[in-house]
Amino acid sequence: MFFSGTMRISDEGHLLIGGCDLVKLASEYGTPLYVYDEELIRKKCRLYKNAFAKEYPNAEVVYAGKAFLTTAMCRLVDEEGLALDVVSGGELYTALEAGFPVSRIYFHGNNKTEEELDLALEVGVGRIVADSLMELEFLDEIARQKGKEVDLYLRVKPGIKAHTHHYIQTGQEDSKFGLGISDGQVLAAVDFVCSRKRLNLKGLHCHIGSQILNPKPFRLAARVMMKLIAEIKSKKGILLNELNLGGGLGIRYTSADEPCDFDSFIRLLAETVRQEAGEMNLPLPKLMIEPGRSIVGEAGVTLYRVGTIKDIPNIRRYVSVDGGMTDNLRPALYEAEYVALVANKASAAAKEVVTIAGKNCESGDILIKDIKLPELEKGDILAVLSTGAYHYSMANNYNRNPRPAVVFVRDGRADLVVKRESWRDLVRLDCMPERFKKYQNPV
Ligand code: LLP
Repeated sequence: MFFSGTMRISDEGHLLIGGCDLVKLASEYGTPLYVYDEELIRKKCRLYKNAFAKEYPNAEVVYAGKAFLTTAMCRLVDEEGLALDVVSGGELYTALEAGFPVSRIYFHGNNKTEEELDLALEVGVGRIVADSLMELEFLDEIARQKGKEVDLYLRVKPGIKAHTHHYIQTGQEDSKFGLGISDGQVLAAVDFVCSRKRLNLKGLHCHIGSQILNPKPFRLAARVMMKLIAEIKSKKGILLNELNLGGGLGIRYTSADEPCDFDSFIRLLAETVRQEAGEMNLPLPKLMIEPGRSIVGEAGVTLYRVGTIKDIPNIRRYVSVDGGMTDNLRPALYEAEYVALVANKASAAAKEVVTIAGKNCESGDILIKDIKLPELEKGDILAVLSTGAYHYSMANNYNRNPRPAVVFVRDGRADLVVKRESWRDLVRLDCMPERFKKYQNPV
């Protein structure tokens, strides 16, 4: 069993994070509940920054908001001195609402809408990461209409297949993201940008995938990108001096996962970039990475209350909890595996193998298949670990289940950062056409 961050067991046998008793949090805020170890998020931000300070000072860490974004999280990211990657008008709006410095916002996406680009240009985000030739034309047009200039990166497919679930591989040629190298798209994009006075090419970007435990593909990507910078210099006479190598470093979900530590990861990138620059006689570019999961993933747990327990003789025991694929889509989407602890029986010995089922009407709504836990009873509080990335951000209202609240814990205090949705919230945006209005509302 692994404990991360400030997770401890109290004398009472309860699980604590940030000095807060998870059993008490479950009663106070209700379940399911996302709980974040604020100290651990900050520690991860600092580990990345310190690793760069040692290995490659001309660098920037850009937090990938898609992993988990709320206005409070934006403030934390800013306090820790990281930049922010957003991929939608909604994420951009969240950052603006939190007062995040616009010049440190990077705007991504393979199909940014006119409305989104309009907002991005209006507020003047730091960099727009252009994903296609068609988008460049669109950007040029919007920039012309608004009389603005755009500082941009080109997102490149480095043609690398990372060892991860194929749904979260993004660096290979056959991907909806980015411009290809071998098919000449990157060079064509460079030509286009250089022919437009409102578009300023500042650098290149790539992202090869997510939950990558073996760091070797990152080295390959760094090499390919440095060679591309050299090719653009020799063929087009343009020296690009910003290189964003994306996110993707994996975390520990179960004891089978052995992630690469941040120091070795950054050292590997720094050494590769330095070596390539030396060989090709290029100045060292400003280096960026865009971690999401490795900053927030292990800092989050989800609390559930145990409900119905069902035995199927000689087959399995299903223990159902009050959430599921609505707050954690990853098992259903990627067959992701998790570990859980019983927050009110944290020091009890694991005795029985059970399957943790969600409450949604879908047979695939299983959170954990076959896990050995202390004997479970109705009302117990289950804590599923490593649920800080792509859980709240992928939560949904299937079966009209309200989305959980989010709490940050630190030094013995808990602060709500997102309220729990209510049933009322679920009907808030519903509209009633005139012809249905004769019915009385019985609620
Ligand atoms: N930069 C770009 C351009 C990205 O597309 C992503 C993730 C990141 C950075 C951050 O990657 P990270 O460090 O978090 O691995 N929903 C999936 C993950 C999708 C990742 C999408 N892009 C999951 O739950 O595993």
